[in-house]
Amino acid sequence: MPRSLLSIFDLDKKDIEKLINRSFKLRTLKKSGKSINTLKRKSVGMIFEKLSTRTRISFEVGINELGGQALYTNPADMQLGRGETIADTARVMSSYLDGVIIRTYDHERIIEFERNATVPIINALTNIEHPCQIISDLFTLKDKGLDLERMKLAYIGDGNNVANTLIGAAGIMGFQISVSTPKGFEPDKNVLKEAKNLKNGKIQISNNPKQAVKNADVLYTDVWISMGQENDSRKKEQIFKPYQINRALLSKARPKALVMHCLPAHRGKEISDEVVDGPNSIVFEQAANRLIVGKAILEMCFSD
Ligand code: CP
Ligand code: NVA
Repeated sequence: MPRSLLSIFDLDKKDIEKLINRSFKLRTLKKSGKSINTLKRKSVGMIFEKLSTRTRISFEVGINELGGQALYTNPADMQLGRGETIADTARVMSSYLDGVIIRTYDHERIIEFERNATVPIINALTNIEHPCQIISDLFTLKDKGLDLERMKLAYIGDGNNVANTLIGAAGIMGFQISVSTPKGFEPDKNVLKEAKNLKNGKIQISNNPKQAVKNADVLYTDVWISMGQENDSRKKEQIFKPYQINRALLSKARPKALVMHCLPAHRGKEISDEVVDGPNSIVFEQAANRLIVGKAILEMCFSD
């Protein structure tokens, strides 16, 4: 049945396992050259209020590969940009489309859109969450042979949308997550509460990156300045310096620890060149997998 995906908490462990298994199947089917038509005659709208390389392109290609039609737009090209309400936009778009993918600023905007829509909605990133990215990352880690119930993942950097969603995933899947951010940049309190309520994951929050990466199987980071936060950049860069993933920090994790970054990376800031291009890094494989897992998400949300 079609359904929306606004938050990682919309999914339980079984849902995530299903998405991962379907992604493996979709990868095999693509390699064998079989065409898949699970989105045949489906038209999917994509509203992107922020820039995107991976999410936009992988979803557009994914929709085409599944036999559907993608329609990309942004507020500058819509009446939304001239003050038409989200509620009215959602009602009208629902009458043309079979689903809408939205990247926006305030998480409340996507909730309001979904409340007024009559078709399923996918969250392609808000200030609070980035569920499609993290589901794809779980696939990548499983593909690398990690145990999603037992691994230890250390997230170092800003307590942003990516960090929040990883915490949610830990709560759902059961893995250990150790998040280290500078003081005042901790993850969202409501997300933490919700993840801890699930009682599955082992969630630690600290301001000590060296402690956080100890015994970690995976090191994960993201930009220090997320889209929409550009005003704070100068001050933030100074505060975040000790939170760079570099060779010294990597040496404190397990010897074969994998390094992840959702990209785009700011080389020399949150991650050093030598690490992003080094043997532990799986960042480009991680990015490539967005297409495979994106298709599994599209099917879950938009196919009959
Ligand atoms: N990781 C990610 O979502 O990248 P884009 O901003 O390029 O979509
Ligand atoms: N935290 C980043 C992720 C980009 C994919 C941002 O929101 O800009």
